[in-house]
Amino acid sequence: MNLNRRSFMKYTASTAAGLWISSCLPDKAISKINQTVKEFHFTAVQTRVNLGSGKDFVAWTYNGQVPGPEIRVREGDIIRVVLKNNLPEDTTIHWHGIPLPNPMDGVPNVTQKPVAPGETFVYEFEARPAGSFIYHSHFKLQLDQGLYGPLIIEPLSETEAYDQEYTLLLEDWVLQDGGGAAAIRRRPAGPMMGGRMGMRRQFPTNQMPLPEPVYDGYAVNGRLLSAIYPIVVNKGDRVKLRLINPSSATEYYLSLAGHVLTVTHVDGNPIKPVPTEVLRIGMGERYDVRFNANNPGKWLLAAMETGLGEGMLRIPVNYRGIKRTQSVGPIFRQDMLLANYMDFTFANLWGDITLPPDRSIYQTLSGGMHSSFWTINGQVYPETDALRVQKGERVRLIYGNHSMMPHPMHLHGHFFKIVNPAIPPDMWILKDTLIVDPMQQIAVEFTADNPGKWLHHCHNLYHMEAGMANVVHYAQS
Ligand code: C2O
Ligand code: CU
Repeated sequence: MNLNRRSFMKYTASTAAGLWISSCLPDKAISKINQTVKEFHFTAVQTRVNLGSGKDFVAWTYNGQVPGPEIRVREGDIIRVVLKNNLPEDTTIHWHGIPLPNPMDGVPNVTQKPVAPGETFVYEFEARPAGSFIYHSHFKLQLDQGLYGPLIIEPLSETEAYDQEYTLLLEDWVLQDGGGAAAIRRRPAGPMMGGRMGMRRQFPTNQMPLPEPVYDGYAVNGRLLSAIYPIVVNKGDRVKLRLINPSSATEYYLSLAGHVLTVTHVDGNPIKPVPTEVLRIGMGERYDVRFNANNPGKWLLAAMETGLGEGMLRIPVNYRGIKRTQSVGPIFRQDMLLANYMDFTFANLWGDITLPPDRSIYQTLSGGMHSSFWTINGQVYPETDALRVQKGERVRLIYGNHSMMPHPMHLHGHFFKIVNPAIPPDMWILKDTLIVDPMQQIAVEFTADNPGKWLHHCHNLYHMEAGMANVVHYAQS
């Protein structure tokens, strides 16, 4: 255990540690012996919070805290979460990135009946593979009201060497009762009636989608601006950061002044380490990076400010024993090294062989310009065509983004590989969320090895709610 990380994550880690009860009883349902069951009790409840800005507001929380308690287990453990819903509406929890059994996936009316107010639901699944994940509500706009938290699966045997580890959730907030969801509800119905031309189906007008809210605060682990806890290092430390983006509608470009970040994991999966000066992280993505603390001073790990202060956050990185009062932040330049998906190669641990796809499916992403809907192949969820696959097939999804916004596309229940024509398929990186940039075409492939109904959608919450989603269906055979 690391004292520095512990003290940094105090308000989550210590609470979480107090919550789970571990036992060494074999779990009958899983029929493997010696699996440790780690049980957590989550109550979803509205709570007055203060993110350090001096302004209180009512957030939607797990156990009264934002973000929710950290779940930290070892690979192969059984995670059991007893969810009690004390909210005024239905809820569910989705375990973002973990290829778990379909009934545990937490998508309302797709994988489960939503958990009604006053009800309890038990999630239970094996923690596999190791990596950095997120859990979050998948009901309506609850993600943007505070219902998310970190889920860390530690490897059975640690292969990395580091002295300190920090988990950093990068969050966008509307600092008012009910968060982002309340902000947009209060907004008058503006020019949203147009833009239905070209849709293949008709939509009831009372279901017009909502625009994104304007965020007025960016937080790290539930703390805003000057209240953000610093990373404190000793000279010579190797520091691992788990960067997690549970934001509803904000992506970040991060840079650490005075240091180079080395990317080691993408969405939990190991890659061959790649240095970068800037790291882009979209909604739903996770990157593990590390840096060598070899440049004593007071620095900032900061996000680039785009436009109206959007995505602005600054995390102090302080060397012990340095007295100066001003921190030095990164200066973003055009010519900075920004590693992207195509610069990464999978650290192939199993020597797996990737076969050519059995089936290719086009996914045209559009919307935005003259429409308040976001579409896949011109359709709006739940009217979108299913992605029909057969068990065992290798499936290629070819995305074409015909809109002017990036879409972080997320597939439930499976990892996919990002097709990179420059390298052999067994070196393609494994992820579960992929940013498709404006006017870009890019493809992924996955093996249909986890039967069920799996949601596939843009992880901009407001794009998803405005239609950019469909469901993977396995054919019955
Ligand atoms: Cu992180 Cu369907 O979501
Ligand atoms: Cu989108």
